[in-house]
Amino acid sequence: MHGGIRPADLRALGLRPEDVLDFSASVSPLGPPAGVWEAMRRVDLTAYPDPACLELREAIAARLIRQSPCLAGQGGLSLDCILAGNGSTELIHLLARAFLTPPLKPAHNSALQLGPTYGEYAGACRLAGASISALEARREAGFSWDMEQAAEHIDSQRPSLVFLCNPNNPTGVFLAQSEVEALAQATQRVGGLLVLDEAYLGFVDQPWDTLSLLAWDNVVLLRSMTKDYALTGLRLGYLLASAKLTARLSAFQPDWSVNALAQAAGLVALADAGYLPRARQAVAQAREYLTEELTHLGFRVYPSAANFLLVDVGDGAAWRERLMRRGLFVRDCASFGLPDCIRVGIRPLADCLRLVQAMGEGR
Ligand SMILES: Cc1ncc(COP(=O)(O)O)c(C=O)c1O
Repeated sequence: MHGGIRPADLRALGLRPEDVLDFSASVSPLGPPAGVWEAMRRVDLTAYPDPACLELREAIAARLIRQSPCLAGQGGLSLDCILAGNGSTELIHLLARAFLTPPLKPAHNSALQLGPTYGEYAGACRLAGASISALEARREAGFSWDMEQAAEHIDSQRPSLVFLCNPNNPTGVFLAQSEVEALAQATQRVGGLLVLDEAYLGFVDQPWDTLSLLAWDNVVLLRSMTKDYALTGLRLGYLLASAKLTARLSAFQPDWSVNALAQAAGLVALADAGYLPRARQAVAQAREYLTEELTHLGFRVYPSAANFLLVDVGDGAAWRERLMRRGLFVRDCASFGLPDCIRVGIRPLADCLRLVQAMGEGR
């Protein structure tokens, strides 16, 4: 189960897409960067897209090197360490297929996720014929994990893949460098890969330089341009890893996975250096507003570093239904094992005002 509005839901409610606000998918509240439509209009639809996404990977490398003191110190970022995908979802599936699918020995055919978290990791592992176990964060501990326990679990279970979402969906918890490195180390000890899903990193205020983790040859970073630049319908993501890992994953990817419109839009987005700082600012402002107002209404709002909020409403399904009838779609968190919560994606402030009003009247 994912966020996003399905036409079938709208039909059942007699609503039109233009009548509703989607708080269930968490993407940049600014919409796609200026120039995206113009660039897409220039695309030759009669030609195949570049299967290697060369220009896009060059632009990703250039942007990351400008952003990261660590990368500059490590001598840059080779294009061989970047793989673009049809959204980061495709890359999650490639990872599962490349590193979990038989003929690996059954003992090595397992993965671990730090939960509650994004459902696609478990789905991809099961599709690859592997088992996945979960180490659940405790709510009383603010949804943080016990890293010593995680390391012990990794030592005993010896998973081939460890999935960590940072900041985490749906809790918004953002781990410190030392915590992530402890996991990287434990995973390395058992010969496994740590997959760090950074789909929401673009919205964290002043994050640590996670690109420093590329010094580890068992770490894969996943990024979502779908979310960073609100290219949700186009589908665009990339991963960063050692050249050896990237080559192995690339062999599992069908040609032309990233279409020409997405590649053209991605280039424009990456050229707009001011976009993400503006998006972060808009997210921070609306997140603060929603946190204050919903808390004032008596809901428990968990602190979040990301562009969504986990809100304890008592009965997530009932609130989803109630708000949906008013054209406001939020994510019921039952599938995360949190049936008393909803997840609210940060939208522009004016939309958040409507949500607060509806939740005030619905109480
Ligand atoms: C944690 C996480 N990772 C990855 C994705 C997939 O994003 P994309 O649109 O890049 O496939 C999502 C989408 O909801 C997500 O929540």
